[in-house]
Amino acid sequence: MTDAPRVADAQTAARLTTEWDAALYFKFGAERAQPAHDLLARVDFTPRRIVDLGCGPGASTRMLMDRFPQAEIVAVSNSEPMLAEARRSLPGMTFDQTDISEWRPHQPADLIFANSSLQWLRKHEILFPRLMSCLAEGGALAVQMADNLHEPSHSLMRMIAADGPWSNRLAPIAETRAVIGTHIDYYNWLKPLSDRLDIWETTYVHPLSGVDEVVDWFRSGALRPFLDPLGPHEQAEFLDRYKRDLADAYDADPDGSLLFLYPRLFIYARKGKAKA
Ligand SMILES: C[S@@+](CC[C@H](N)C(=O)[O-])C[C@H]1O[C@@H](n2cnc3c(N)ncnc32)[C@H](O)[C@@H]1O
Repeated sequence: MTDAPRVADAQTAARLTTEWDAALYFKFGAERAQPAHDLLARVDFTPRRIVDLGCGPGASTRMLMDRFPQAEIVAVSNSEPMLAEARRSLPGMTFDQTDISEWRPHQPADLIFANSSLQWLRKHEILFPRLMSCLAEGGALAVQMADNLHEPSHSLMRMIAADGPWSNRLAPIAETRAVIGTHIDYYNWLKPLSDRLDIWETTYVHPLSGVDEVVDWFRSGALRPFLDPLGPHEQAEFLDRYKRDLADAYDADPDGSLLFLYPRLFIYARKGKAKA
């Protein structure tokens, strides 16, 4: 007997990714902000029209505003809870509740900044060239994506999903997760469209207090599609197993910290100017 509703299709899995928890997201605000700072540092011109694609609760939007106070900024997300928090913290900012897969700018953008959002979308071979086509001449696409699907934090989620009383409900969800390309894919897709193309990878090392903090980190994001279809008892069982397996997979440092590795892929593609 199960206490959970059935989730059978990719559409439902996609809906679950829109229901973010902004408060939990901020628990690791500093750690999540660092890659956005590192990406923003690469922007080598002063854009007038900026789009923050997948703006979350507005942290990346605020960074863009602080660095480019004269720019016109539009912040886009498909998540109402995230947008509500962003609207609260940035009154006066222009927000657009749209799915990135359908988003098009009213006018070509000088900078499309997508920090930690595009890993949720599929078909990057179509998406990335399309985003380049939304840029003005000389504009730039700046992207940072989590590249952690092969880390224990994520492979364990999938393994537990596939091996339990919930497997018929969760296995299809594991299969609907988007998988980002390799650095070679992005090079091949973007090089013909760019004057300057920088691709780099950084693995951040986050000392966490233990496995509970790993759960807190992903509860507002990657764990949601797996937990939401389960009832309270199954959720607790899923998380117990997840925590036990995490404890085996991550060694504690002598000071007791769990050194949590988080690989991320960065892309900065600058579109050329038309020749006179
Ligand atoms: C991890 S948050 C990133 C937040 C922000 N860029 C930052 O750096 O603080 C991911 C954001 O991307 C949004 N997102 C994910 N998939 C999306 C999609 N298909 N369309 C629109 N927004 C999406 C989520 O709703 C959320 O607002």
